[in-house]
Amino acid sequence: MATERTFSILKPDATRRNLTGAVNAVIEEAGLRIVGQRRIRLTQEQAEKFYEVHKERPFFGELVSFMTSGPVVVQVLEGENAVAKYREVMGATNPAQAAEGTIRKRFAESVGENTVHGSDSAENAKLEIAQFFKDSDIAA
Ligand code: CMP
Repeated sequence: MATERTFSILKPDATRRNLTGAVNAVIEEAGLRIVGQRRIRLTQEQAEKFYEVHKERPFFGELVSFMTSGPVVVQVLEGENAVAKYREVMGATNPAQAAEGTIRKRFAESVGENTVHGSDSAENAKLEIAQFFKDSDIAA
């Protein structure tokens, strides 16, 4: 399996509780390398565009309002099989169903405020990375 990249967001519930370092430690211990990272405040437009696939879902408004409620940390993670590996490290979307030791099991508060986002495919990872990073922002 070749080295690949995935896109990660540490969500506002993580920055609010000062968990950036704790979450990054889990990411790095799993063998993923943080090759790009920026702390930003998402605009309404950025959040709506990022979550466009969910716009018909009943929770869309709540999701956009949560994601713009405080700073987030956008990241590019690199490693062997990075997309699948990060999804394993994050755990299930709903922390109540997440496996022991995963980021969401350890830190997430609810299905909405679930600490982290990770791309669901290599194709989406490329699109998501391109929404927030220029090539020159990433140093592998
Ligand atoms: P994420 O991986 O960022 O992608 C879509 C997000 O929608 C997901 O994580 C959850 O945080 C959020 N989400 C999914 N289901 C619900 C729900 N039932 N209520 C609120 N938010 C949800």
